[in-house]
Amino acid sequence: MRVLVTGAAGSIGQVLLPGLTDRGHDVVGMDLVVAPDGTPSPWYVGDCGDPDAVRSTFEAAAHGGPIEAVVHLAGIPDESSLDAALASHVLTTATLLDAMREHAVSRIVYASSNHAVGRTPRTDLLDTETPPRPDTFYGVGKVAAEALLRLYADRYGLDAVALRIGSFLPQPETRRHLATWLSHDDAVRLVEAALTAPDPGFAVAYGISANTRAWWDLASARALGYAPQDDAETFAATVEETPATEADEVEAAHVGGPFVTERFWRPAR
Ligand SMILES: NC(=O)c1ccc[n+]([C@@H]2O[C@H](COP(=O)([O-])OP(=O)(O)OC[C@H]3O[C@@H](n4cnc5c(N)ncnc54)[C@H](O)[C@@H]3O)[C@@H](O)[C@H]2O)c1
Repeated sequence: MRVLVTGAAGSIGQVLLPGLTDRGHDVVGMDLVVAPDGTPSPWYVGDCGDPDAVRSTFEAAAHGGPIEAVVHLAGIPDESSLDAALASHVLTTATLLDAMREHAVSRIVYASSNHAVGRTPRTDLLDTETPPRPDTFYGVGKVAAEALLRLYADRYGLDAVALRIGSFLPQPETRRHLATWLSHDDAVRLVEAALTAPDPGFAVAYGISANTRAWWDLASARALGYAPQDDAETFAATVEETPATEADEVEAAHVGGPFVTERFWRPAR
């Protein structure tokens, strides 16, 4: 499958590019910055929120064959201002969706976040039926981006899969990560499942490995064909070598962990 990956220079993009290529996909990168040295994929520099830049990327990329799907990773993966969150997550998604319509690209896989439901108190295993409950402006951006995906799926029949990623890291570093970790290899497996699942329509799935202590239900991810192979439990002894702290308790109280705390509270405008 020929896939445009936005935010391709970032931490997830740099794992997905070789991961999807190794699995036989034809990957094209787009980012605000130039390709890191040694990137074998075709690459376009541009802002995903700029309709002209996105349009010319789609046009140029199509010379190598029609783009069949977009994996949208571009965005600020942290709390910033409301304006920046809306520009970074909502307007980029809208711009890409319009370009997809113009170029007959029918599938998007979106890097959403657990922070779309981050303010939800942690009790039982959370499924994807839980209502949106952002913990930050970042989370608000992800909720709104998911809403746009749903709108375009309903209106135009696009396949739009929102992956609420947990903690994408080489290995878990904190107690929270023992529940929220997404390994590099499982990230590739998850995105490939979202790209190739037959007719998903609009779908939401949590993006974590098969963690023994998982906080989020992987049923909808597995329904897409995701078969995670890693488990944060492998690292539990190392993570738990240091005694638990108050910060660990705070992180365990809500889905979004530290993003719920007052450290992240600020005026919207
Ligand atoms: N890393 C995680 O654990 C995690 C968890 C949940 C969600 N996510 C989401 O996954 C996505 C990727 O995260 P990451 O960790 O790779 O982030 P990152 O910061 O490492 O990479 C993001 C990339 O996007 C590019 N970018 C930003 N704005 C852009 C724009 N307007 N146009 C084009 N390129 C732009 C940046 O230059 C950067 O290379 C983000 O949307 C993030 O919110 C990540």
